[in-house]
Amino acid sequence: MSRSFKLGVLAAAVMAAAPMAQAYEAGDFIGRAGVATVDPDSSSSDLNSDALGVLPGAQVSVDSDTQLGLTVTYMITDQIAIGVLGATPFKHDIEGDGAVLGGAGKLAETKHLPPTITLQFFPMPSSSKFQPYAGLGVNYTNFFEEKTTSTLTGIYDDVASGGAGGVVASTDLELDDSFGLAAEIGMDYMITENVGVNAAIWWADIDTDATINAYAADGSRVDSSTLDVEIDPWVYMVGVSYKF
Ligand code: NI
Repeated sequence: MSRSFKLGVLAAAVMAAAPMAQAYEAGDFIGRAGVATVDPDSSSSDLNSDALGVLPGAQVSVDSDTQLGLTVTYMITDQIAIGVLGATPFKHDIEGDGAVLGGAGKLAETKHLPPTITLQFFPMPSSSKFQPYAGLGVNYTNFFEEKTTSTLTGIYDDVASGGAGGVVASTDLELDDSFGLAAEIGMDYMITENVGVNAAIWWADIDTDATINAYAADGSRVDSSTLDVEIDPWVYMVGVSYKF
C-alpha cells in the first residue's frame, strides 16, 4: 500500500471513531427567532349589560395576528429544559359574533404580550441533529391599548336611544390579564454545529373578562357591560435556531 493510501485509511478510521459533536447537552442555551402567528379559537359569553341585562346572541370573536417570535431554551440536563416564548406585541381585532352582533364587523382592538414558560423534554440522544421536544407550562397574557370603534359606540347609541341617537357619545374597553395552562411541541434540526431550523406549535388557555363602558357626551357613564371571552389560541412559529 502506498503511504498516502495508508494515511487516507487512517484518517477515515479516525473520523469514524471520533465522537459526534454534541448537538444539545446540559448547560446549552438555544435561541430561536422566527415568524409567530397567534390564531385564536375564540368564543364568548353573551354580553351582560347593567342597563339591559343579558343580551342573547350579542357575542364577540378575536382574529389572528403574526409577529416576530423569540424563544429560548436552557438545557438543565441533556434532555430536560426550560423554554420561554416571547414576541413583539400582537394586535388583534375584536369582531361582533353570534346572532345579534355577527356581521357587525370590527368593534374593538387590543394588543397583548403572551409570555409562556414551559418545562421541555427532548427525547433524542444529545448527539442527534434532529431534536423534537414537548413542553408543558403556563401562559401569562397582558392586554393593553384596548380601543373601541365608532361601530361599537354607534350600536350602544342606537340601543340606548331607540335609534334616535344622541345618548352614547363614546365607549371604552378593558380586558383583564389571563393566566393559564400552555402546552407545546416543536423540533430543531441542526444544520451546522450551532445553526438550525425550528418549527413549534403551542396551545394556550387564554381567557379574559371584558368590560365595555358607554359614556354620554358629558362623560357620565350610561352603561357598563361584561363578557367572558375565551381566546384559547394556537400559536405557530417557524424560524432559525442558534445554539450558544
Ligand atoms: Ni379557555
